Amino acid sequence: MSLKLYSDYPRPATNRSKELDPGNVRFNHGISGSQEVPAKPSSVSPPALLSKPFPEDYMSSKQAYELLHRELTQDSKPQFNLATFGTTYMEPEVEKLITESLPKNFIDPRAYPATANIERKCLQILANMYHLPTKDPRDIAGASTIGSSEAIMMAVLAMKSNWIKRQEASSSDKSGRPNLIISSVAQVCWKKAARYFDVDLQYVPCSEDRYVLDPVKAVDLVNERTMGICCILSGTTYTGEYEDVKKVNTLLIQRGLDIPIHVDSASGGFVAPFVVPDCEWDFRLEKVVSINVSGHKYGHVYPGIGWALWRSVDYLPKDLVFHLSYLGTPQASFTLNFSRGSSHVIAQYYQFIRLGNAGYTHILTEIIKVSRHLTAALQDQGFLILSRKSGTQGIPLVAFQLDPARKHNFNEFALSDELEKRGWLVPAYHMAEGARHIKLLRVVCRRDFSMALCERFVRDVRGSVRKLERRKSVN
Ligand SMILES: Cc1ncc(COP(=O)(O)O)c(C=O)c1O
Repeated sequence: MSLKLYSDYPRPATNRSKELDPGNVRFNHGISGSQEVPAKPSSVSPPALLSKPFPEDYMSSKQAYELLHRELTQDSKPQFNLATFGTTYMEPEVEKLITESLPKNFIDPRAYPATANIERKCLQILANMYHLPTKDPRDIAGASTIGSSEAIMMAVLAMKSNWIKRQEASSSDKSGRPNLIISSVAQVCWKKAARYFDVDLQYVPCSEDRYVLDPVKAVDLVNERTMGICCILSGTTYTGEYEDVKKVNTLLIQRGLDIPIHVDSASGGFVAPFVVPDCEWDFRLEKVVSINVSGHKYGHVYPGIGWALWRSVDYLPKDLVFHLSYLGTPQASFTLNFSRGSSHVIAQYYQFIRLGNAGYTHILTEIIKVSRHLTAALQDQGFLILSRKSGTQGIPLVAFQLDPARKHNFNEFALSDELEKRGWLVPAYHMAEGARHIKLLRVVCRRDFSMALCERFVRDVRGSVRKLERRKSVN
């Protein structure tokens, strides 16, 4: 398998960040003696050095910093990356905490008991937010992860293990793989989890006028090999819309089906509780056994932090939890990786105590205002909107397409390229299985996408469309 290197990727000539700001240089003087590499300016000029994979000689820390700092200015400015759900702004105070905790390995609770305690506090906050029935914090079954993908992998493993146990106890056919029912708009991590852990995905396709899971079609697919149904309250990666978890729950009860639901609330898990607190999608619904959420999306922490929670320890199979003591204290481990940084767990707790319920609600209200303004502005320019009402029916993203009735001489992909030339990253893509002919663009509204920035974006969309209209057909 050949790995793709950064240098393999095309570097578009855009107005990306150019400034070199040596004022931000921070030098680590924390080691001394024989381990310290003596300061020695390299005689080779920095650009030539970067073309060598592993240089023979060393350079000074200042030179290494400046060299990399300059190289990295070729990346997009995160604030202008409207493709990502990932947080691109945090306050300097929390950035300081992140830096301070970089040397702490999260796996070592004996050395870092305060950090381990902070993870438990975060889990307790999330358990309350998602209406976990237990009131005793010691009974909370959950873990911090690198992101929702890892949380989903763990949830899939747990569902599979529980299904195998149910099969072993029953008289049904024991051969074959389990299946998981999910909408075709599922994020790629579900495909990965299914392939890595030998699970079949039973897709409920979307259609011309429905871009989320159809609850009836999903429950109709249940058979004896079904280990669970996944509902996406993220909302979906394509249009941001919430799926109807409550309807799936009701149908399972009405039909007497003992099938667990996992809710993928990667983004929505930090939106719905503050915007539509009465919307029932979490542990209030009896069939919901596990939930994942990304702290690094609307949890307002830089990538990577995610969370996995189970309704109770009964849904977290004991054979998946490893007990070890070689770090000096007995501990239980249920994550895919062993070592991991502590900074993001600490940063998540910072956001919880810094913002509280009022802060999360306020930030979301502002983001939703911007996303609704953008929706209206794009409609004014003649685009069709595919996302639902931001906040109440979906997360604050705007999915839009060119109106086919206007017979444009360019398509959504050309518009995405044109916007990139102006510094904006706005992905163009095809809808999922069932409606693949539909092309769309997506803007994820985040905390640092202010109203002023939104106005600038709207002007750039208008300018890009005008420019493309003057050109020959690029369909
Ligand atoms: C619905 C959904 N699920 C899962 C993921 C994966 O999350 P992460 O990037 O935190 O691994 C994403 C990422 O965008 C998503 O949108």
